Amino acid sequence: MPAGFQQLGGETVTGTLALSVFTAVLGSLTFGYNIGVINAPQKIIEEDYNATWVHRYGEPIPTATLTSLWSLSVAIFSIGGMFSSFCVGFISEWLGRRKAMLINNLFAFIGGSMMGMSKLCRSFEMMILGRFIIGAYCGLACSLTPMYVGEIAPTSLRGALGTLHQLGIVTGILIAQILGLESLLGSEDLWPVLLGLTVMPTVLQMGLLPFCPESPRFLYIIRSQEHLAKRGLRRLTGRDEVADMLAEMKEEKRRMDMEKKVSILELFRSPFYRQPIIISILLQLSQQLSGVNAIFYYSTNIFIKAGVQSPVYATIGVGVVNCAFTVVSLFLVERMGRRTLHMLGLAGMCICAVLMTMALALLESIPWMSYISMLAIFGFVAFFEIGPGPIPWFFVAELFSQGPRPAAMAVAGCSNWTANFIIAMCFQYIAEICGPYVFLIFATLLVFFLVYTFFRVPETRGKTFDQIAANFNQYSAGGMMDMDLNKNSTELEYLGDENMN
Ligand code: GLC
Repeated sequence: MPAGFQQLGGETVTGTLALSVFTAVLGSLTFGYNIGVINAPQKIIEEDYNATWVHRYGEPIPTATLTSLWSLSVAIFSIGGMFSSFCVGFISEWLGRRKAMLINNLFAFIGGSMMGMSKLCRSFEMMILGRFIIGAYCGLACSLTPMYVGEIAPTSLRGALGTLHQLGIVTGILIAQILGLESLLGSEDLWPVLLGLTVMPTVLQMGLLPFCPESPRFLYIIRSQEHLAKRGLRRLTGRDEVADMLAEMKEEKRRMDMEKKVSILELFRSPFYRQPIIISILLQLSQQLSGVNAIFYYSTNIFIKAGVQSPVYATIGVGVVNCAFTVVSLFLVERMGRRTLHMLGLAGMCICAVLMTMALALLESIPWMSYISMLAIFGFVAFFEIGPGPIPWFFVAELFSQGPRPAAMAVAGCSNWTANFIIAMCFQYIAEICGPYVFLIFATLLVFFLVYTFFRVPETRGKTFDQIAANFNQYSAGGMMDMDLNKNSTELEYLGDENMN
């Protein structure tokens, strides 16, 4: 085996594949960084908002205005994501996956610089606009990364490599949480650096992207550039002989050429796509409406209410658990499959949510319940990362073949961001109304998503895109859906299986 090649799950991981996946998930890292960065320095940045207000109007900022400005600073990030994620279909087809990622970095640059300069310019408007623009970057990155990774990954590693997107996100969150400590960058003087640092991974990504091949599936199936696709496949697989993979793509292309172009509307109209698009949306909703971002945006506050002594360190603890369990999922996803892990995660989160509610409700009479609530939060996050965190992101790319994939990613991404926005905006208000019982709402939703997954979501592990689509076609034609498609997963070849058609 040539140097720089690793054997993983029976599949060869070449240096080019590793580099390409690494480069793509730098976008995920930036996304995670911007989720986590806003949590710890809340008080300090709010003080600066107040200072600006005093400077402009000669009086302190009214509390209600400050709360609104802060909620807006947090939540506008998701609005940026909502808008841009909707455009991902068009952009990724027009520019290609690689160039789209490259150009997207401009958003990160502009957004990061605006946030970094906002203190100097005494302008919270700049901060809010910067959060919007960086949100737009993340909306695109969140769909472009799993799409590109899913398309270049060998079939048997698609889940494991797909999980790296989430690993990038959680690493970004953890880095932001650590750097956000007051003794590091979360201080009065340095918080602009903390927010501006988001441009670092994007510089690295811009430097590395030119060395990564464009997705061969995109080149061949969409652009009909067989020669370039072949060259990309050779680089990614390290093999000279790529005819079998090309044959599989040819079949997908043949089928795609027979269909008309798939628009977003078409996804809902066509009986072939309706089922997978509903599954995609519900999986995204299960991720966001599980309540996980209530923890990531507001954990410091939640820990204070739960009587935890060092809330900032507990928040970092959440970040560490979050990372550790994403790694666990990485190793389990190709063994246990997506469906099982997703259900396991949802069920575990539900139990932890109930436990957390009990602990919070009993806190007044039993003080050590604060430890239980902290453990319950750790468990909640751990189970999230086993399934509902990583799986929805790459599952959408798996459920669709090349033609409808970009439109499907746009719809799924937009649903994810909309739900994210609702949680970011409403959680604090609902928590005030419901008190310790707020997580029971999430528990109920989790039960619903668990039941839905059990009855509707098929397994995709080890299947080619074509096989997955064929399963849905058979279902929409009145046949039974095969929930566990994994009878012969080990027999499958890289990106291809000739037995299917
Ligand atoms: C997922 C979610 C994101 C969340 C993160 C937490 O990537 O999409 O909203 O903050 O997981 O790890």
